[in-house]
Amino acid sequence: MSSHGEPIPMQSSKAGPLRGEANVPGDKSISHRALIFGAMAVGETTITGLLEGEDVLDTAKAMQAFGATVTNHGGGKWSVRGVGVGGFSEPENVIDCGNSGTGVRLIMGCMATSDMSVTFTGDASLCSRPMARVTDPIALFGAQSHGRSGGRLPMTIVGAADPVPVEYVTPVPSAQVKSAVLLAGLNAPGQTVVIEKEATRDHTERMLNGFGASVITEEVPEGRKITLTGQPELKPQDIVVPRDPSSAAFPVCAALIVEGSDVLVPNIGLNPTRAGLFETLRDMGADLTYENLRTEGGEPVADLRAKYSPNMQGIEVPAERAASMIDEYPVLSVVASFASGKTFMPGVKELRVKESDRIDAMAQGLRACGVQVDEGDDWWTVHGGGAGGSAKGGATVESRLDHRIAMSFMVLGMGTPEPVRVDDGGPIATSFPIFEALMNGLGAKVTRA
Ligand code: S3P
Repeated sequence: MSSHGEPIPMQSSKAGPLRGEANVPGDKSISHRALIFGAMAVGETTITGLLEGEDVLDTAKAMQAFGATVTNHGGGKWSVRGVGVGGFSEPENVIDCGNSGTGVRLIMGCMATSDMSVTFTGDASLCSRPMARVTDPIALFGAQSHGRSGGRLPMTIVGAADPVPVEYVTPVPSAQVKSAVLLAGLNAPGQTVVIEKEATRDHTERMLNGFGASVITEEVPEGRKITLTGQPELKPQDIVVPRDPSSAAFPVCAALIVEGSDVLVPNIGLNPTRAGLFETLRDMGADLTYENLRTEGGEPVADLRAKYSPNMQGIEVPAERAASMIDEYPVLSVVASFASGKTFMPGVKELRVKESDRIDAMAQGLRACGVQVDEGDDWWTVHGGGAGGSAKGGATVESRLDHRIAMSFMVLGMGTPEPVRVDDGGPIATSFPIFEALMNGLGAKVTRA
């Protein structure tokens, strides 16, 4: 089992107004995919603005282990010399995906239809997460898997030597599962079909089309039907990674709860499969505006301006919006504690199987800071206190190897009367290595405790 080092306790104290520009790092989902698809293309893909967080760096190492040449040219510029669909070689060692569910699940998909045996592992968080959601569909292609009880890592996948194409209805709303099936389908003959009942982030579909594969999406009575034609030759691309809306969420939410704040977060993608948080905040009455709204690379992009919002109201977050903001519920629950009344968040069972059980991690930490939280299997409710919030702070909260839990509690501490501490801020480096410097540059007081 891997680990990313000694715990780094961190503290966040009440901040003065947050002001200025927050240039958040590149999108994590797109960064993983740029490396993986680049490794499956024939020739050299260039990537600008890659997120250089631990999760993505683990994927870069994995692509090297499968035979691609990955080069860091400095300043966020990378290149990947790919080996083509079906061109992976069997890695000599265990593939360690660290903390990254996206990394391991996508990579399992893309080796599942090659004649090779690969063992995967990760940190304690990743080794506790369910992998049957990927091993079940790749078994239909002919791959076998042998893991620990409960379908957990470490796990060996024996890829199918003679894969067959598959039609699969995803049982959970998961872009990782959808992507794993599509990636397995790349090296199978014929057409692989994935049907998802609810739309999840569509970066795989968009990017594979960009690399020259045929991926057709149709709305059908069962949901979204995605048809991929197998065994294409993927053509290398020059990819500019947009900034991550999931990272933008932290300075945006911090600005809403800290008196006097006015923060601009430039160049954020508003792809509807990712932008649910911003819609929800606006529904709550947040002063969040989209400036310079434009289209870049076929996607809506804007500069987000977030100002202190003392009049936010708790709402019921539509369950059908969950997939488009699944990573943002932890920080939304912090904002909810600064809204008047209750914020009810239904239809979020998937939060229980993220880097941590995010409902439990947030509920326990918020309660320790003085906030009332009710929860059920697939819902939770946060009781807000209006401007000034319902949280007092003054607690040390467990981050549970989960970057978004650590960052959410650092945001909470920016608005509470007493500081909030996390036992380990180390996981923040998986997705937002510049979090501390960026937030302190805006006026936050985040310190190593
Ligand atoms: C991701 C999909 C989501 C999300 C994760 C990144 C991706 O997971 O939580 O942070 O890049 O495909 P699920 O698809 O399992 O919901």
